[in-house]
Amino acid sequence: MPFLDIENLFFAYPNKNAGKTTSWILENFNLSVEHGEILGIAGPSGQGKSTLLRIIAGFEKIQRGIVRLDGRVISSAEVNVTPEERQVGMVFQDYGLFPHMTVAGNIAYGLHRLPREARRQRVLAMLELVRMAELAERYPYEISGGQQQRVALARSLAPEPKVLLLDEPFSNLDSELKTGIRSEMKEILANTRATCLFVSHDQNDLEAVCDRIRVMPCDFLS
Ligand SMILES: Nc1ncnc2c1ncn2[C@@H]1O[C@H](COP(=O)(O)OP(=O)(O)OP(=O)(O)O)[C@@H](O)[C@H]1O
Ligand SMILES: [Mg+2]
Repeated sequence: MPFLDIENLFFAYPNKNAGKTTSWILENFNLSVEHGEILGIAGPSGQGKSTLLRIIAGFEKIQRGIVRLDGRVISSAEVNVTPEERQVGMVFQDYGLFPHMTVAGNIAYGLHRLPREARRQRVLAMLELVRMAELAERYPYEISGGQQQRVALARSLAPEPKVLLLDEPFSNLDSELKTGIRSEMKEILANTRATCLFVSHDQNDLEAVCDRIRVMPCDFLS
């Protein structure tokens, strides 16, 4: 069975106009991702790319179908494992760093279950991984957009998630910075052997980083 497996998924946002027919955002949607695979997700605006990531992260409840991760059902009509219990990491478009915490503090955030020394080691390892060790004590407003992006990536990778979800992580970066960050991202993901879903509007991002690209909503695979 694939590591992340979505079968016959139906999802609609709660209908605010009672009586109206349901408009599915995802209708009979299927997706399989192998362990360690980096899957790119493309497609026009409004097709449900961010919605799909939010479902996998556990922020939206599905109406029908099954989402399995590492052999366990995490979403169905009956089951909805909480986001904290899913071991899924997510990087949002705006990075979502905590402004009142340093770089190191942001990375340590998801590691509260680890003993102090193990947590310190893990933060150091992640700082090295994204080459931010020198800037560990800075606050988000004291570092560049590209550096914030790397911190967000380190923060989401620190607790060793089973799946990493990236929703247009490069969209705030200029094209020059993007070129460097693409190969850096590819390298970081390869080093951690993370299974990853990467949403972008930019075909160049997808081709540089991903093993395979899925265009939503159709089932075309390239
Ligand atoms: N919280 C919400 N409540 C109701 N409808 C929503 C909500 N969030 C998104 N939608 C709708 O769901 C559809 C899919 O949105 P989604 O954000 O998943 O698209 P997307 O593919 O990520 O688009 P983009 O490329 O612009 O980011 C859109 O029609 C959107 O208006
Ligand atoms: Mg989106």
